[in-house]
Amino acid sequence: KIMIIGESPSHSEDQERKPFVGESGKLLRAVLTHFGISPENDCYLTNVVKFRPPNSNFEVFYVPSSLSSSGRKSAKSSRSEPSSYLRQSIAELYSEIRRVNPVAIIPLGAEAFRAIIGEHRSLDDWRGSIVSCPITGVLPGCKVIPTYHPTRVLREHTLLPVFTHDIERAIEESKFRGIANLRHNVEVNPTFERVCVYLRSLLERSRTTQIRISYDIETFSDPAEHRIYTRCIGIADSATHAVCIPLIGRGRSSERTEESSPSSSKTEHTTTARRFSYEGLTYSSNSKGYHITLGVDTKLNSYWTYEQELVILSLLDQIFLSHSISKFVQNHPYDSQVLARELGFHIHSVLLDTMVAAHTLFCELPKDLGFLCSMYTRVPCYWNY
Ligand code: URA
Repeated sequence: KIMIIGESPSHSEDQERKPFVGESGKLLRAVLTHFGISPENDCYLTNVVKFRPPNSNFEVFYVPSSLSSSGRKSAKSSRSEPSSYLRQSIAELYSEIRRVNPVAIIPLGAEAFRAIIGEHRSLDDWRGSIVSCPITGVLPGCKVIPTYHPTRVLREHTLLPVFTHDIERAIEESKFRGIANLRHNVEVNPTFERVCVYLRSLLERSRTTQIRISYDIETFSDPAEHRIYTRCIGIADSATHAVCIPLIGRGRSSERTEESSPSSSKTEHTTTARRFSYEGLTYSSNSKGYHITLGVDTKLNSYWTYEQELVILSLLDQIFLSHSISKFVQNHPYDSQVLARELGFHIHSVLLDTMVAAHTLFCELPKDLGFLCSMYTRVPCYWNY
């Protein structure tokens, strides 16, 4: 059974004592029916609060900010402290959920999502995510898939495909209990040896066949120097495996190896002033050897020793230049500029920029990585994953 939870009934629904029979209900029911789901037989429709608030304003169910227990006006939202009435309604909703025993719960809108998970989370970030139901006493394997409230979809009709997508996902998820193991293997903080083995294996495979990778970089800027630096480069060679190669980190870089290699330098060096040149394997480093300072005394160094970094950058350079390694990227104009300016990398054989592709297909929808992940993968809110 799919349990669908709205905020509170509209005026007519309040009088009829039936949820989702008004305008937003029509939209919800049409989408469910489109996917062969009977709103009456396959779903259980309810609301966080069973009565319509005055002027349909849900805010009345929160303690006015001037009266909140902290005594201070909340900077974040006036909806910071639920009233005792709302808390009681949520407790009753939990009993209702335990009684219905759903496989999938679809909270419609931020209020319903908040009621289920017990804290405020941005719906734009979390919609379409598959979250384990945190309510005690609910049978294990029940999942929560939040989406927009249909009233908002009626106002912002570009959200309709997103809403439809999320409902379809929830219907698929309602066919089995439990959250499927995504089996992602993302290697973070690999050793120097591991990075070399991985990058060499990509180059080795590409000698006999065309291979595909996707890569992405994380950067930060040094406002004092007006420069942008590459913090790490992540490379995925399949849908389930990736290695994240840090370039800048904290702490001693000489400890990043399984066995300290005899040739590795024991002295810390700062990575940020370099301009890497593969042909000559040289850095044209800043003679000042400056380091990046972020905030008060946060010193960030190269993650690797000087020699290790040269080897890694050289392998990366070969991968980026290789025509036998097709690249999938997100927002390539940005990444390629940073990589070219900071490290002198030139990227060949870019097969697809997912951001450009998404925008070409659906120019009215967002094209950022968070949104694309929510639509094309089952990774929940990817930067929290
Ligand atoms: N109708 C309902 O029953 N709930 C809502 O949240 C909106 C309309």
